[in-house]
Amino acid sequence: METCTLSKPDDGIVRLLQISDTHLFAETNRDLLGIATADSFQAVLDAITELPQTYDVVLATGDLSQDHSAASYQRFARMVTTLQKPVHWLPGNHDHRVLMQNELQVSGIRPEMQLVGDHWQVILLDSQVYGTPHGWLSHLQLEQLEAALLQYPEKHVLICLHHHTFPIGSIWLDQHDLKNASDFLAVLARYPRVKAVLCGHVHQEYDQYHQGIRFLTSPSTCIQFQPLSVDFSLDTMSPGWRYLQLYPDGRIATQVWRLEPGQFAPDLQSTGY
Ligand SMILES: [Fe+2]
Repeated sequence: METCTLSKPDDGIVRLLQISDTHLFAETNRDLLGIATADSFQAVLDAITELPQTYDVVLATGDLSQDHSAASYQRFARMVTTLQKPVHWLPGNHDHRVLMQNELQVSGIRPEMQLVGDHWQVILLDSQVYGTPHGWLSHLQLEQLEAALLQYPEKHVLICLHHHTFPIGSIWLDQHDLKNASDFLAVLARYPRVKAVLCGHVHQEYDQYHQGIRFLTSPSTCIQFQPLSVDFSLDTMSPGWRYLQLYPDGRIATQVWRLEPGQFAPDLQSTGY
């Protein structure tokens, strides 16, 4: 697992920004169910730059592309450069793992999966099963997770992956969750310093504790899915992102931010994508 060091602010607080599910295309103006994904992502980036909060690192939690094109990853890299912060990524079900890595690396976005600070480590996992919407953590991923946890047993831990571990109450989306959640949870149960698991994939906010670990999901920067829906259904909530502060004593403060309402309207008649 490639490693990098988190910056060490004087107050010891690690500040992170999560952006997820940008679903970009090669073409600038192409839309996903009524929302031009490059435009909504740009609006999110613009809003982030106007906020007073500082952050040290950006986490991009998958589905960065919708069309598997090299140009869509180049577009992501070009756009996110404006934040002028280190960016770390992991793949989602819509991504092309090899193209993604190659195109992002060329743009200076490296594939480190373990970010180590004074009091925390952040571990990024690949839960993609190419060609299917659900997730699975391979034996290798689970081994690497456990090795990272063993390496720094005294540090608090935030784990990031694309797919959600627990059902969020939307039947159609919960079919596409992490299928070997029990294997993942068995590892987590052995390491009480694991404080939170952060995901994308579900295009909505979720924040629940399970056996002492906080499970978080976040909005997409484009379309939002309706919470608690049986069938595919879009939500009118605005595109958004998440801000996290990891305190030296293991506490986490986090908040979801969204664009002002009404800037981006999805096609609510859509029945899938
Ligand atoms: Fe997505």
